[in-house]
Amino acid sequence: MDKLQHDYPWTKAPLVSCGPMRLIALSKLTSEVSKAGGLGFIGAGSDCSTLASELESFEKLQTESQVLAAVKDVLPVGVGFLLWAGEKLLKEALPILEKYRPAALWLFAPSHPDQLVQWTKETRRVTQGKTKVWIQIGTVADALEITQSCQPDVLVVQGNDAGGHGLEKCAGLVSLLPEVDDALSALCAEQEIKKPTLVAAGGITEGRGAAAALTLGASGVVMGTRYLASPEANIAKGYRDAVLKASDGGVTTERGKLYDTLRGTTDWPLRYGGRGVLNETHYDAAKGMSVEENKRLYEDAMKMGDEGWGEKARLTTYAGTGVGLVKEVKSAAAITEEVRRGAIAVLKRTSTHTWT
Ligand SMILES: Cc1cc2nc3c(=O)[nH]c(=O)nc-3n(C[C@H](O)[C@H](O)[C@H](O)COP(=O)(O)O)c2cc1C
Repeated sequence: MDKLQHDYPWTKAPLVSCGPMRLIALSKLTSEVSKAGGLGFIGAGSDCSTLASELESFEKLQTESQVLAAVKDVLPVGVGFLLWAGEKLLKEALPILEKYRPAALWLFAPSHPDQLVQWTKETRRVTQGKTKVWIQIGTVADALEITQSCQPDVLVVQGNDAGGHGLEKCAGLVSLLPEVDDALSALCAEQEIKKPTLVAAGGITEGRGAAAALTLGASGVVMGTRYLASPEANIAKGYRDAVLKASDGGVTTERGKLYDTLRGTTDWPLRYGGRGVLNETHYDAAKGMSVEENKRLYEDAMKMGDEGWGEKARLTTYAGTGVGLVKEVKSAAAITEEVRRGAIAVLKRTSTHTWT
């Protein structure tokens, strides 16, 4: 049996996951992903204040599915944290993790590598190892260092195409994933440690991308951008429409710190930036508009409701280069099932092809 299906027995292979998008991936979205045989991650981010109530509401939604209701040992959902938030976040998170025992913990963006060690150790302690540890990385060096220091159950290999925050300097999945895979195989054989399962994130929106990631060495995939176009994602209609409208994401999205600066979310470690769809905020900054003026216009745009988003508007529209493939709103369950089945169909098709 696949390791992921062993650890998350309600899931179907290949695993399709929803990334822990802060304020967006909540109980409504994640329960639909898990019900469809995937693993949804609630985005707690840097703040635990609503986490217990989200997990409480997940527990209620879980009972709507026979398969999920049968899971007793853990809550069939994951929770993601942004570690730069520091010691206070860990202190607040631990009693919640102990009480609800989510199936997986997702760690991202530490300001110091020791934070990963501490979170991993403490979570395994309070949940008696029931909550599996997933760590999102974007370089070969981080994959090696973190595997040695934390021995995570899963490494989420995030390529440069990913929406939202990621490393400013980072390769795309096609080169990153196989290099991480090879380097980890060598390290784990040499040091006789368990090799973490690899899951791919960044630019995957449908079956072909998922199949490619599996071919590169992943056992499952994570998507963020694709789920923005689901009714269960907690975003404004204007944001969703801007994602649906965008195409050619290599040109129309960019990673950077401008929106963090304007929104005051400046605690991110220096090496991270957010990828989003470009709009007037970006174009004006490029033309030399001052931060103060841009901030003022941004605050005005926040009062415009759905009109605040779009190429000719100003609000943050985090999304990955895969936006151009997101053309339809579908339920999170349908997306999960479609991507899984799509990947299987592509892999079957290519394996029966007669190569000469
Ligand atoms: C709107 C948005 C918000 C995100 N927020 C978080 C977050 O709070 N924590 C995190 O670890 N990753 C976050 N991510 C990254 C995802 O976990 C995942 O790595 C990424 O979405 C995968 O790339 P894709 O968007 O191309 O599917 C976010 C992504 C998006 C699009």
